[in-house]
Amino acid sequence: MIRDAQIFPDPKALTRAVADQSLQIVNDALRKKDLCAVCLSGGRTPKSLNEVWAREYATAMPWNQIHFFWGDERYVPPSDPASNYRMVRETLLAHVPIPHANIHPMLTNFERPEDAARNYEEELRKFFAQDPPSFDIIFLGLGPEGHTASLFPGSPALDEKEKWVVNVNVPAEPPTRLTLTYPIINQATNVFFLVEGAGKREIIRALREDPNDETSHYPALRVQPAGRLTWFMDAAAAGE
Ligand code: 6PG
Repeated sequence: MIRDAQIFPDPKALTRAVADQSLQIVNDALRKKDLCAVCLSGGRTPKSLNEVWAREYATAMPWNQIHFFWGDERYVPPSDPASNYRMVRETLLAHVPIPHANIHPMLTNFERPEDAARNYEEELRKFFAQDPPSFDIIFLGLGPEGHTASLFPGSPALDEKEKWVVNVNVPAEPPTRLTLTYPIINQATNVFFLVEGAGKREIIRALREDPNDETSHYPALRVQPAGRLTWFMDAAAAGE
């Protein structure tokens, strides 16, 4: 079920609200600690958020103290047009003064994607060594069949209880991917779903009507974090 939704007249208003609320979360978090962990997503909606950050928040964001991670990655080289890392680099990282050490892409240069998944979990464990493994913000998108990150309906990855990162084969292009799992996603302090466009109306309706959470057929509904969960949608996706 979707409980906390914020609905905006258009994608522009949505992106602005997400950017403002994110900045506030980052600033609040940095009053209590030195570093902030933000997990990025692939997809079109997060792309416009990156562009707004790069254009309008380049000086407002405390880039030195923000560490960026990825929620999922297509198993392609970082130069590939399908790479989520490449998208973020081109739309955000190349335009803001963020230290290289603060950028934690999911590496895809291992022969076996299992090894890449293990490597990223180690990277996360190193970063969260002193703290509970809790991202300050995780951004997620929503696929038309209810997938989020690269957690697709029916995938064994949905039942993962121990590993924080797994490799998956998904019914989408490219099929081989890495994804975070619920044991880490659901520790987050804030999860923001970003959903835009009439193409998402059907799935949003289905999610609203589904009374289940952790047991839902729809992977996105199984995201039930310890902290705050907010669905940002435009009117077209919300069916208004
Ligand atoms: C990916 C994404 C994926 C995406 C949704 C929504 O790497 O494919 O992480 O989960 O966010 O498919 O994508 P759109 O915003 O493009 O509809």
